[in-house]
Formats: sequence, C-alpha cells, structure tokens
Amino acid sequence: MSIASIKKSPRPVKVHVRLAIKADIPAVQKIYAHYVRSTTASFEEEPPTVAEMTTRWQRILDHKLPYLVAIKGKRVVGYAFACPFRERSGYRYTIEDSVYVNPDYLGRNVGNTLLSELIKYCTDVGFRQMIAVIGDSTNAASLALHSRHGFFVVGALGSTCFKFGRWVDAVLMQRTLGDGDTSSSPELPNSYEKAR
Ligand SMILES: CC(C)(COP(=O)(O)OP(=O)(O)OC[C@H]1O[C@@H](n2cnc3c(N)ncnc32)[C@H](O)[C@@H]1OP(=O)(O)O)[C@@H](O)C(=O)NCCC(=O)NCCS
Repeated sequence: MSIASIKKSPRPVKVHVRLAIKADIPAVQKIYAHYVRSTTASFEEEPPTVAEMTTRWQRILDHKLPYLVAIKGKRVVGYAFACPFRERSGYRYTIEDSVYVNPDYLGRNVGNTLLSELIKYCTDVGFRQMIAVIGDSTNAASLALHSRHGFFVVGALGSTCFKFGRWVDAVLMQRTLGDGDTSSSPELPNSYEKAR
C-alpha cells in the first residue's frame, strides 16, 4: 500500500495517547516493520527485532524523552517519539520527531493527535526547535502532517539513501517550540541534566 495514496477519511478515530510501556513494543515493532519492508519512510532496510526496538525505546527513556503510543480500544494504532537531533551538547535544545501510524488507521487523524501531543510535551519540558527528517521527498503524508503542525521545509539531502533500487532524498523540516531563540539564557530542558 502506498502512503501517498491514502487520503484523509471522513471518519477520524478518537484515540487515547499515553507514554509507551514495554508491553507495547511488539505492536510498535509490527507497525515499524511494515514501513521498513514496504516504504521509503524509513531508510532502514531490515526490520529491527522486538528486542532491538525495546532497546531503542529504553534509550529514549534514558534520555528522559517522550515515547508515546495512540491506543484505540486495547490496540496500539500508532506511536511517536522524540530523540536528540544530534548528541553534541550545543544541540541540547533541539529534538527530532518520529511518527508512525498503523496502516489500517491511516488518514484518520491519529498522526495529527500523536504529533500534537509530542509537540506539547517537548515544548513543556523546554525544547526550542523540533526537526523532522522525512524519508523521501514523495512522502506526501508526512510532508502534509508536518506542514499542518507548523513545520517548514528547510532543506533536502539529495540521494542520501539507496533503497528498493533507487536513490531517495531526505527532506528536512523544522519548527520552533515555545519561545524559540528569543532568549539568550534559556533554561535547560528538564530532561537535559539527567540525560547525560
Ligand atoms: C505520516 C503519517 C504519520 C500520517 O499519519 P495519519 O494518521 O495518516 O495522518 P492524519 O490522518 O492525522 O493526517 C495528518 C494530516 O496529513 C494529511 N494527510 C494524511 N495523509 C495524506 C496523504 N497521503 N496525502 C496528503 N495529505 C495527507 C491529512 O489531510 C492531515 O492534514 P489536515 O489535518 O490538515 O487535514 C502516516 O502516513 C505514516 O505513518 N506514514 C509512515 C511513516 C512516516 O512517514 N512517518 C513520518 C516521518 S517521521
């Protein structure tokens, strides 16, 4: 199924968003594996195992950063997390987002709900810039989702990925969080001291 072919359904689904727990990771892995196998949204080529996804989830927790899941009934229908954009200390106010929605629930507002919550969380704890590194310049859904949430295209990394026998671009989008760069003595994000 092509991401680009999914249009918003007239029936948005109401989901509950909460922090992910370890028991959610098998469902998260299943969602991610789908996109790794069949799309260029991720530049990975082999789906990581549940054990590897659990290690990645734990790493986000160790950074005191949010890893969210969207729940419908008892089912994980999407997830989103923030990770450090770069590890070097000068980047400490800058965060990168990722959002993935179960293919059965595309176009039903789950991405919007997850990204809203992620932005709110990261703003509240003191981050100032959020970056999206979008896999594939033809990823209309991700470009639309991020535009909708105040991101602007700031560049593209041409042909930085080779997957499914073709060269693929990454598009960089960015938005300010909270007071952005208006202060020359910003408070550290809540998570920063503990994270390092
Ligand atoms: C990108 C993704 C998270 C969007 O999730 P979603 O739940 O389908 O999106 P929503 O239904 O909340 O829609 C979000 C916005 O994008 C728009 N949109 C969604 N799919 C679209 C598509 N295929 N083409 C154009 N616009 C689209 C919607 O109209 C909506 O805009 P609006 O609120 O102004 O109407 C989902 O397609 C996905 O998981 N893609 C694979 C992974 C990926 O690319 N993640 C993002 C990079 S980190």
